[in-house]
Amino acid sequence: MGRFHNLISIHDLTREDIDLILKTAAEMERLTGQWGRLLQGRIMACLFFEPSTRTRLSFESAMLRLGGNVLGFADVSVSSAGGKGETLADTVRTVEQYADVIVIRHPLDGSARVAAEFATVPVINAGSGAEEHPTQALLDLYSIWKLKGRIDGLTISLCGDLKYGRTVHSLGIALSRYDVRIRLASPPTLRMKPTIVQDMEQAGIEVTQTDSLIEAVTDVDVVYMTRIQKERFPDITEYDKIKDKFRITMSEVKRMRDDTIILHPLPRVGEIDPEVDPTPNAKYFEQVYNGVITRMAILRLILE
Ligand code: NCD
Repeated sequence: MGRFHNLISIHDLTREDIDLILKTAAEMERLTGQWGRLLQGRIMACLFFEPSTRTRLSFESAMLRLGGNVLGFADVSVSSAGGKGETLADTVRTVEQYADVIVIRHPLDGSARVAAEFATVPVINAGSGAEEHPTQALLDLYSIWKLKGRIDGLTISLCGDLKYGRTVHSLGIALSRYDVRIRLASPPTLRMKPTIVQDMEQAGIEVTQTDSLIEAVTDVDVVYMTRIQKERFPDITEYDKIKDKFRITMSEVKRMRDDTIILHPLPRVGEIDPEVDPTPNAKYFEQVYNGVITRMAILRLILE
């Protein structure tokens, strides 16, 4: 067994664990070109019960670059879990006969934890409902560390849908392991879960909440923008009321410091105007590459 068995929640990781993952990711970047045999002969299964482009392809790319193999489904309707009503427990107990590690994305909070309870092989959470997305948070931290040279001492704004966005939940918990200042910027109805704000405050972090995007982008090191999570709204008219309220355009970029970086887990719909893409502040496509590197590090730490 590797350094970690499962990766289900950022709550399970200490600062030392996170730092080890970031250092291993940096090591993977240094080893570029020499990855080919590190996980040769190992098999990763991707069980994606929810749509995904980046997370699944990024995990697959990471495993293939390390010389491993991949199998799985990306469309639940073609699996027995979707079409025939198989339980998650049975799906997991079957798939673990085929693979050395299971990567799972599922619409229900707690789903990855349940999968891990039934699996004897390691389980990695690739998004559990609106709850968590730990590997995204780790690649976000790696991007911040790589681009800013440090995490401690930074001021970071988490913006957009802080209520339903699982990436900001995991990232908020992860950042509370560091000495940072956090601004939480969202429409009033999409504020950060109070339990996560409490976690941050108990960790001694200075947290401010605002519904002004201008306040969030002014004089900060990192602006982390997110999509309003339309698919998780119980009432779509609520979504329509706020969907265009939080948008980064050139007028917001002009208010930023030159060294402020803009990150986004992607996909974006309208919340960052494409005219922002060529600015030196926009780092969200570079962040995608960091995702592959970070997932290579995670797979090594779990499987080696
Ligand atoms: C995110 C997700 O699935 O939570 N996407 C991703 O994994 N990069 C963000 C989102 O869907 O808005």
